[in-house]
Amino acid sequence: MGSSTDRKRKLDLADDAKKQNKTLDARQSSGINPWTGKAYSSRYQSILQTRLKLPVYKFQSELLEAVADNQIVVIEGETGSGKTTQIPQFLVEIGYATPGKSCVGCTQPRRVAATSIATRVAEEMDVTLGKTVGYTIRFEDISDPNETVLKFLTDGMLLREAMSDPFLSRYSCIVLDEAHERTLATDVLMGLLMEVLPKRKKGSKHGELKVVVMSATLDAEKFQAYFGGAPLMKVPGRTFPVEVFYTAEPERNYLEAATRTAIQIHQCEGPGDILVFLTGEQEIEQACEEIRLGAQDMGKDASELVVYPLYSSLPPAQQRKIFSAAPGPKVVGGKPGRKVVVSTNIAETSLTIDGIVYVIDPGFSKQKVYNPRIRVESLLVSPISRASARQRSGRAGRTRPGKCFRLYTEQSFHNDLQETTYPEILRSKMSNVVLTLKKLGIDDLVHFDFMDPPAPETLMRALEVLNYLGALDDEGDMTDLGRQMAELPLDPQLSKMLICSPDYNCSDEIVSIVASMSVPQIFLRPRENAKAADEAKAQFVDNTSDHITLLNAYATYEEIPQAERRDWCWNNFINDRSISSAESVKKQLKGIMRRLDIPLVTCRGANGSFDTNAIRMALTSAMYMQTAYLQSAGNYLTVKDNQIVYVHPGSSIDSKPQWVVFEEFALTSKNYIRTVTTTRGEWLVEMAPHYFDLENFPECEAKDELMLEYKKLARRMTR
Ligand code: CDP
Ligand code: MG
Repeated sequence: MGSSTDRKRKLDLADDAKKQNKTLDARQSSGINPWTGKAYSSRYQSILQTRLKLPVYKFQSELLEAVADNQIVVIEGETGSGKTTQIPQFLVEIGYATPGKSCVGCTQPRRVAATSIATRVAEEMDVTLGKTVGYTIRFEDISDPNETVLKFLTDGMLLREAMSDPFLSRYSCIVLDEAHERTLATDVLMGLLMEVLPKRKKGSKHGELKVVVMSATLDAEKFQAYFGGAPLMKVPGRTFPVEVFYTAEPERNYLEAATRTAIQIHQCEGPGDILVFLTGEQEIEQACEEIRLGAQDMGKDASELVVYPLYSSLPPAQQRKIFSAAPGPKVVGGKPGRKVVVSTNIAETSLTIDGIVYVIDPGFSKQKVYNPRIRVESLLVSPISRASARQRSGRAGRTRPGKCFRLYTEQSFHNDLQETTYPEILRSKMSNVVLTLKKLGIDDLVHFDFMDPPAPETLMRALEVLNYLGALDDEGDMTDLGRQMAELPLDPQLSKMLICSPDYNCSDEIVSIVASMSVPQIFLRPRENAKAADEAKAQFVDNTSDHITLLNAYATYEEIPQAERRDWCWNNFINDRSISSAESVKKQLKGIMRRLDIPLVTCRGANGSFDTNAIRMALTSAMYMQTAYLQSAGNYLTVKDNQIVYVHPGSSIDSKPQWVVFEEFALTSKNYIRTVTTTRGEWLVEMAPHYFDLENFPECEAKDELMLEYKKLARRMTR
C-alpha cells in the first residue's frame, strides 16, 4: 500500500477515534446509557471522574489508532494505570463488539481477577453484570451470548473455547492481559493466536481479529519480538517514590515478622493503608487474626484498624471488601483509621487497591514446580524473583510516596533472588496442554511456536501419560477416548475416570467425587476447633478411602433440605460455599456427560450404602499411575518412581494397606501423599498390564508382589 494512502487512512482513523470520543462525550452529556437505554446513575458520573484521571486516557486515541492499523499491539503499562479496566472498554466503545455477533474478550490468569474486574467494569459502564459485561471462569459462566459485548475470562477458559471454536470466531478482539505472568495457558494462547491470526485477516470468513497483549513489566520487548515486531506502546503509571527497607538479619518466621511489622506500622507510621503479601489461605487467615488481636492490645486510644484477607477461595462478597475505604477517625479531629489487606500474589499486579502506602513483603509466594523424572507437580512456597519484589514495592506508591518493608536482607535480595520468575510452562506437567493442543489439531508439538519451549522430557512425559490413559494411540494420534476426555474441563486423569466409571456401575458416585475435588477443601478444620472438626468428619469417614469419605459428606449434603443446609454445614464443619459449588460443578459435569453419552448409573444399594469396591475400582482404573506400595520397613514407595512417601496424617485411612492410589504428592518437609484410596494388586495387573509391564520395571518389593499377581491372574484365566 502506498504510504500516502496509508497516512490518510491513519488520519481518518484518528479522526474516527476523535469523533467516537465526541459521541461518547455527547452520550454522556445526553445522560443516556446506550447499552441500557436508561439514564446514567449518579454513581456512574462519580466513577467517571476518577476514571478520566487514569494515565491510559491520555493514550486512548493513539492506542485505538495502533489497533486499527495492526492485528497485534503490545502495551506495557505500570500497574494501576488503568489498562485492565479501561482498555477493553475503549475497544467496545469504538465499535469492536456487536451484541449477539461479536465481543471483546479479556483474559486474566486468575479467577478472582476475572470476576472482580468484570464486576468493577460493569459498575463503571453502569450495566448489569452477566448482560452487557460478563465473565467466564471454569464451572461458572456469567455472560449472555446475545448481549455480552465485553467478557472477562480466565486464560484457561479461552483455551477451552478454542477447542469448540478454533477460529475464536465469536471474538473481534482479544486482550491478553497480565501477559508478563507467563502462565501456562497464556503461553499456549499466544502460540495459538500466532496460528489463528493469519487466518483471521481482514476479509476472512470470520472477519478480522485484533489482539492486544498487555504486560506490566519491562519484558514487553520480548513479547514484541515474539509477535513479529508488533508496535509497542508504553503507558507510564502514576507512581510516587517508595522507600525500601530491609531487615538486618534474615527472619526465621516470616509470618510472625509480617504481623509484627503491620502492627508496628499502625503504631508508629503516618496515615495510609497496608498491604501484606503472604502465600495462601491458611497463613493469611492466621495473620489477619493476629493483626486484629495486636490492634486490640493497643487499647481504646489507638485509631481503628480493619483487616481484610484476599485469596482465591474467598467468597466474592468478602473479596470486594478490600476496596472499601479505610475507617475514619474515632473522634472528630482524631487520627484516621487504617485498612490492612493481607493477600496472595493476586495483589502484586492483577488487582490494584488504592490508598496503599505501606507494603510488607516477606519474599515468598506459592509456585508450581514439576519434576518430570518422578512425575510430580506441586505447589511450593518459594522465594519470589527480584522483578516480583519490585512490583510489590511499587504498590506502595500509587497515591503518594510510600514505604516497602522487605522481610529479608539486602544481600539476600541481590544474591539469592532470581532476576525473574521462570515461566510456568517450564515448571508444569504438560499432559492437559498436550491433550488440548491435539484436540485443536496441532500435532507437531516440537515445532509449535512456544515463547519458551517446555523441556523435551516434560513433553515426552505428557505424551507417555496420555498414551497410557488411552487418549493417544502409539502413533501419538488422538483416540475417540482422547477426544471425549478433551471435552471435559478436568485433568486428563479425572476425565478418564469419569468416562470409564459406568463400567464399574458408579458414574453417579464418581461425578460427585470429581466435583468435590474440583472445589476448595470441603472439610474445615479450624485450629482452635480441630477436635470438634475431626469428630464431625468422623461421621463420613470411610477408612479405605479419602475419596469415599468426600463422597459420603457430599451425598449426605445432597439429601439435606435446601433451607437447612447452611446450619448443617456449620454444625458439621463443612465449607458451605465449597460444597454448594461442588453441587453446581456436578450439575455441569452431568450436562457434559449427557452430551457425550456417558450414562449416569449408581452403585448405591437399596439400603442407601455404596458399593465401595466398585468405586475403588473405578478410581484405580484412572489413577494407577499414582500407586504406592507399603514397604516392609513401614513406609510407602511410589511404584516405578521409587519415591519414599507417607500417607498424610489427615487421611481417613487408619491402617496401612499394601497398595494405595493417591491424588496428590505434596513436596513439603515430609513427602506426603494426600487424598488416598486403598487398592489391590490384582486390580492393577488386570486394569493396566501395559503400565505394570514387569519387563521394564525397576527392582523393588512391589515388583515381586506384582509378579505373584500376574501368576494368579494367569491361573484365573486358564480356569
Ligand atoms: O490494569 P492496571 O493495573 O493498569 O489498572 P486497573 O486494574 O485497570 O486499575 C485502574 C484503577 O481502577 C485503579 O486505580 C483501581 O484502584 C481501580 N479499581 C477499583 O477501584 N476497583 C476495582 N475492583 C478494580 C479497579
Ligand atoms: Mg491490570
